[in-house]
Amino acid sequence: MPRGTRSGPFVCTVGGTVTNGSPQQRFFRRLWAILGAVSIRTKVLGIVVGTVLLLSTFVTVQVRRSLTTLLQEELESQALSITGHVAESASNLIEAGHSDDLGFLLRETQAHYSDERHNTEIAYLLVTASDGSVLGHTFPDGVPADIIQANRLETVERQSLMWRDNSKGRVLDVAERFALSDDLAGVVRIGLSDREIRAAVNEVTRQLIFTSTIMSLASIAAAVFLTWLITRPIQNLVQATQAVAQGDFSQHVTPWANDEIGRLSEMFNTMTKALAQAAQEQSERAALRAQFVNRVIAAQEDERRRIARELHDSTGQALTSLLVGLQALEQTASGEMRQQTENLRQIVSETLEEVHRIAWELRPSALDDMGLAAALERYIADYRERFGLPVDLVIHGLRDGRLSPEVETTIYRIVQEALTNVARHAQAGQVSVLIEHRDGKTLVIAEDNGVGFDANTAAKGSRQHLGLYGIRERAELLGGKFLIESEAGRGTSLFVEIPDAPPVERPFEKS
Ligand SMILES: Nc1ncnc2c1ncn2[C@@H]1O[C@H](COP(=O)(O)OP(=O)(O)OP(=O)(O)O)[C@@H](O)[C@H]1O
Ligand SMILES: [Mg+2]
Repeated sequence: MPRGTRSGPFVCTVGGTVTNGSPQQRFFRRLWAILGAVSIRTKVLGIVVGTVLLLSTFVTVQVRRSLTTLLQEELESQALSITGHVAESASNLIEAGHSDDLGFLLRETQAHYSDERHNTEIAYLLVTASDGSVLGHTFPDGVPADIIQANRLETVERQSLMWRDNSKGRVLDVAERFALSDDLAGVVRIGLSDREIRAAVNEVTRQLIFTSTIMSLASIAAAVFLTWLITRPIQNLVQATQAVAQGDFSQHVTPWANDEIGRLSEMFNTMTKALAQAAQEQSERAALRAQFVNRVIAAQEDERRRIARELHDSTGQALTSLLVGLQALEQTASGEMRQQTENLRQIVSETLEEVHRIAWELRPSALDDMGLAAALERYIADYRERFGLPVDLVIHGLRDGRLSPEVETTIYRIVQEALTNVARHAQAGQVSVLIEHRDGKTLVIAEDNGVGFDANTAAKGSRQHLGLYGIRERAELLGGKFLIESEAGRGTSLFVEIPDAPPVERPFEKS
């Protein structure tokens, strides 16, 4: 089934390829696929830095807002207090008939509050009569019309506060009514700049940003240290696990603390110890088995050699003597006796030939005397004749020197078994054998165009079928490789590669 095509509400494939679910689910899965892929160190750092920045921003905004409100309230009460003073002084002046000094009083008041002790910037002061006519002010070039219009007191109001924007920032404008006589009233207007508030808030913001930066750096340092503390043993574990996955069971991780990771390290060490022991036992068993198979093969070869010698030296000699005797008898006999003797000689001659063939097949003397190439050529010539099958033999790189006896015997036996299988099972019309010696290895390829078979099952061997299993055993004992490819109706190809010098224990050694 292709990836991710199953039905169902929450089906998704491993590795982040999302194929189902609502758009939000898909979005979060994708997001997690990206975020989840970064290292633990980056995750922790990201969370810490993000949290610190978020908190700092939140605290800064909150502090700015509260401080501004507080300072504005303070400024408002200060404005009311100043207007109270000014109203009192202004009414005294007007009642005393010194209305002309009102401007001087206002400018003095403005200067007084802007000294270092008060540090209050009065943008303007203004006294008007209740009909709106200006009685005194601090503007050097006359009162701007918009100021007169702004913050006008309703008849019932005693005072009014409003914030106005001007070119230099915001101004708190306060108007306060005061009584001049029973039926006359005046209004004091004051404009207080918020410059000091802004300066104070900006200063606090600067301090907060500085503190936040220091806090962020400290948090990053702490997070780096913390992640190092946590991930260092995990990284050690990851490296050790990778090595174990590649077969190195000698890995040992030093548990550096008695916490969860420390306990994980201990469990890991126990596991690698058990794996190492199991691997050692397995390799000992494999070595024993190899030794056993080695001895069985060596014994088989010895036995074949012995029987071949017996057949050649004893049976062959006896049959040759019999043949010579029958020849002599045939010379002297006559008539029917001569005919019978000739028949007997014929039978003995054929038997002798058969004995020689069997002896040769058991242990070809050519393999010991003339080498692999010659022995194979002879075996295949004999095979062609016996089974009437065309065999295409190609040998490369074997004429220059001899391989070790065990390699030569192994290759010879493998070709022998492969070709016997072709003759017995393949019903092939054509067989080809390639033997190539190159770069310290010998490659054997035997191919036929026969009926083919299920190679996976057959190569495992069984009680009745040991040929292919034997080929694998012989090849692997010499550190070689074996591969068989076959398909019903499409022939069989057998590949064997044997190194000149086996990396494992040499077979056929007698102990
Ligand atoms: N070239 C081939 N073409 C078709 N079938 C094959 C070929 N080689 C092997 N086989 C199949 O694989 C089986 C296993 O082969 P294997 O050589 O292991 O055993 P065997 O030849 O049956 O018996 P023996 O143990 O005497 O060799 C055979 O029985 C046969 O069915
Ligand atoms: Mg066989």
